[in-house]
Amino acid sequence: MSASKELPDWFPYVAEDVLRCCRPEPGLWVDLGCGTGGLGLALARASNSTILLIDPNADALAEAGEKARAAGLDGRIVPIVACAEQIPLPDGSVEAVASRGSIFFWNDPPEGLREVYRILRKGARAMIGGGLGSSYPRWARDEFYRRRNADVQAGGAEAIRKWEGPRRPEWMEAQARAAGLRDSLIEPTPPHLWLLFEKGES
Ligand SMILES: C[S@@+](CC[C@H](N)C(=O)[O-])C[C@H]1O[C@@H](n2cnc3c(N)ncnc32)[C@H](O)[C@@H]1O
Repeated sequence: MSASKELPDWFPYVAEDVLRCCRPEPGLWVDLGCGTGGLGLALARASNSTILLIDPNADALAEAGEKARAAGLDGRIVPIVACAEQIPLPDGSVEAVASRGSIFFWNDPPEGLREVYRILRKGARAMIGGGLGSSYPRWARDEFYRRRNADVQAGGAEAIRKWEGPRRPEWMEAQARAAGLRDSLIEPTPPHLWLLFEKGES
């Protein structure tokens, strides 16, 4: 396979998992640590809900806004510059939170998870973690990880340690425990590195 062969877009596959696992009511949904909005836009395409795109990087959000305009989705996309650790939304205000590939970069992952829990409406779910979607084609997954591992290896031992350290199910579970979310987790969690949890009574 040529190294430059373009891989299929993984965001629709991740969005499919979010919809299947979270079964969100229509309303306000969040893509947290959205970057340029790939997952949020895929969720917008697959629903009639309004997607709040949250990220501390204003430039990435501006690019997400451009993509939303080009796709005619800007009426249902709301960019918000903020961090997971301090989400500027009221308690119980959203129907779902999805976050792909971001928790590994948060300053305080347990605090971010507590914030996610706080903004969920009772009975609503969040899916936080990383991956390409459970039905992403096998050949493309293998090629994605081959390329990514080559990039990480090229960065040397420190880069490998920083990359691999948090990208383990044990690390994810430790963050959920530290956030006090152990009892809210829904098992089995989706494949790969995801936490799926539901807002309970408190
Ligand atoms: C690897 S990118 C992933 C972007 C996108 N979710 C995706 O799947 O392509 C990580 C994102 O997390 C964001 N991020 C970093 N620290 C954060 C924090 N404390 N709270 C929320 N997002 C954060 C970064 O700005 C960046 O956009």
